[in-house]
Amino acid sequence: MALPTHVGIIMDGNGRWAQKRGLPRTAGHKKGAETLKKVLKYAREKGIKVVTLYAFSSENWSRPKEEVDTLMNLFREYLKNDVNELIKEGVRISFIGQRERFDADLIEQMNHIEEKTKELTNFHVVLALSYGARDDILTAVQKLAQKVKEGALAPNEIDMRQISSHLSTAHIPDPDLIIRTSGEQRISNFLLWELAYSEFYFTPVLWPDFNEKEFEKAIEDFELRHRRFGNVV
Ligand code: FPP
Repeated sequence: MALPTHVGIIMDGNGRWAQKRGLPRTAGHKKGAETLKKVLKYAREKGIKVVTLYAFSSENWSRPKEEVDTLMNLFREYLKNDVNELIKEGVRISFIGQRERFDADLIEQMNHIEEKTKELTNFHVVLALSYGARDDILTAVQKLAQKVKEGALAPNEIDMRQISSHLSTAHIPDPDLIIRTSGEQRISNFLLWELAYSEFYFTPVLWPDFNEKEFEKAIEDFELRHRRFGNVV
């Protein structure tokens, strides 16, 4: 099978990576940010079109303050510095999730980057930040209900396309492949609607140890699969 167009990644295992080395969990996140940069470079060079990274779930806010603060500073640094490199190379960057929960400077930065890169087409990085798929579906349903209330839409006009087009992912194709690191085999509220026909690749490798070679393995595994989309061929 051909290369996946869109790969979703659940970057898991930063904390365990650090604990195994007697380091604070935050050290795992810092190393994880390095992995992310390498993997994006590789994916772009390989010819993949979209990568969505699950960087912070809507449940992650309840982690200890020190850990949340470290993650916020990593996002801040990434959006301020590393993203410029991507922009120079024609990469579109967008964000999904509850943006309003972040500090004002981060919200401003996200809006600015999204606006500045919206016409770029070489590669698309989607960062899921304070993201939860159920929340995204709920918001889409509320928007549709409002349109029905206003008479702009009849209830029987609500079809799958309408739901897809009201999600925060309306501007990207459904993921072909979802990778989760660290040995956990669950979805944890990531892209629930969009992954209906995705292939899954679970690896025991912890995210900070994930690299180009491991990514290549996931792609090779995907290429061997035969997707039928519910059909028989
Ligand atoms: C899951 O590992 C990882 C996260 C909650 C954070 C992911 C963040 C990064 C990779 C940092 C950089 C991101 C950007 C966008 C610059 P975990 O902490 O749940 O690990 P554990 O399951 O071993 O405890």
